[in-house]
Amino acid sequence: MSNAGQKIAAVVLAAGKGTRMKSERAKVLHQMAGRPMAFFPIRAALALDASPVVVVVGYQAESVKEELGRQFAGAPIRFALQAEQLGTGHAVLCAQEALRGFEGSVLILAADVPLLRTQTLQRLVDARRGLDLALLACRASDPKGYGRIVRRPDGTVAKIVEERDASPEERKIAEVNASVYLADAKFLFSALRGLGRSNAQGEYYLTDIVARGRAVAVEAEETEVAGVNDRAQLARSAAQIRERRNAQLMKDGVTLVDPAVTYVDEGIEVGTDTVLEPLVSLRGKTRIGRGVQLGQGCVIVDSEIADGAKILPYSHLEGARIGPSAVVGPFARLRPGAHVAEQAHVGNFVELKKTVLGKGSKANHLTYLGDAVIGEGCNIGAGTITCNYDGQNKHVTTIEDGAFIGSDTQLIAPVTVHKGAYVGSGTTVRKDVPPGALSVSAGKQRNIEGWVEKKAPRKTAKKD
Ligand code: UD1
Ligand code: CA
Repeated sequence: MSNAGQKIAAVVLAAGKGTRMKSERAKVLHQMAGRPMAFFPIRAALALDASPVVVVVGYQAESVKEELGRQFAGAPIRFALQAEQLGTGHAVLCAQEALRGFEGSVLILAADVPLLRTQTLQRLVDARRGLDLALLACRASDPKGYGRIVRRPDGTVAKIVEERDASPEERKIAEVNASVYLADAKFLFSALRGLGRSNAQGEYYLTDIVARGRAVAVEAEETEVAGVNDRAQLARSAAQIRERRNAQLMKDGVTLVDPAVTYVDEGIEVGTDTVLEPLVSLRGKTRIGRGVQLGQGCVIVDSEIADGAKILPYSHLEGARIGPSAVVGPFARLRPGAHVAEQAHVGNFVELKKTVLGKGSKANHLTYLGDAVIGEGCNIGAGTITCNYDGQNKHVTTIEDGAFIGSDTQLIAPVTVHKGAYVGSGTTVRKDVPPGALSVSAGKQRNIEGWVEKKAPRKTAKKD
């Protein structure tokens, strides 16, 4: 977004502990759609072209810095430390050093207000004009806990009073402070230096700067400025983020059978004409191509799925690559390094780890393939197991193009089944199988005539 020559920097307050979360973890790191809560307001500030964006950290400062640094690698982000949490006003003051020499508007966001849209921030920019500051307000259905906006008889904003400091009259005000401000940098820091802490919480309130300048309040929707202070609000806001995300996917040509129960992490790309059945969960660094079918209950983490592939219900994929028109599941488990090539099939109760299943090859039932390289057009029979671990090391099983592995085969790695070879059912393959050979290891079958009559338990005999 362009702001017609107006320079904007941002301060994001993320130093608080978030006591009401009752958590060992800093509140701003709690996850929503696969990202830490603080990700969302920071992204909104960056989308407004704010630079730099100073994130004020305090509680668990190191983890917050590390996590957000990773989320925004390459973005104009700086961190400022608020060693002791003395209030929101004090927190902004801690960002002053990082903004030394900056002239223009400072956007102030709270890391626990994740649903803000960039368009709404833009309205704040447009509203401030020559005034000292603009702030977001909303008509709260339940104003409890919020700072109230007190207006003068002429309608202009006089001050903000926190719930705990408000008179009974003031508590009746439904217009509340959303904790989002755009202030002139010079005004901001001189007003902050004058703050006292003689209030109910003994804190330096950022809200007290409002009475010190000429302010305008911009109305925002309640849902958009909802703060997250406890786990119920976390769940509610996360549902909102999901709803937006899912609406965008549908707009982009993806079918969601039931968007209310479809979970797609922030930042995941899904191609057109792909169908997501209920309870599909797409997480991490996942990419889904076009015309893909994702069956009910599939969980897909850090995986790539090419065009036209089908993942049937209740499959779990992590760190897997699925080629075009391949078919996986139902009830398949693909672990890191699984690569199912074009048109290959992986069926029910099949587990793959660090294994390539070549083009058009099939492993359809009850099988474990680990550390294996399987060529094209192979058939892996039911109950095949690669014995890849000798108790100390992992070894590779190689199955070349066109090989046929009979059911209930164990392949003791390292071992190779060469091109076009056959392995009979129930074979324990300990040595390489040459091209075109048949390998069998099971003993010869013996049938003992009349055995049941003579040896079977009495119970069976009695029945006769
Ligand atoms: C604040 C506002 C209130 C507003 C509400 C909206 C003040 C005094 N009050 O109250 O008017 O209605 O938000 O959600 O500003 N933080 C720090 N350092 C601190 C204290 C807080 O970084 O010393 C951070 C927190 O991590 C959080 C944000 O500032 O992200 C807001 O703090 P919080 O304690 O949640 O303020 P509220 O009581 O919700
Ligand atoms: Ca809050």
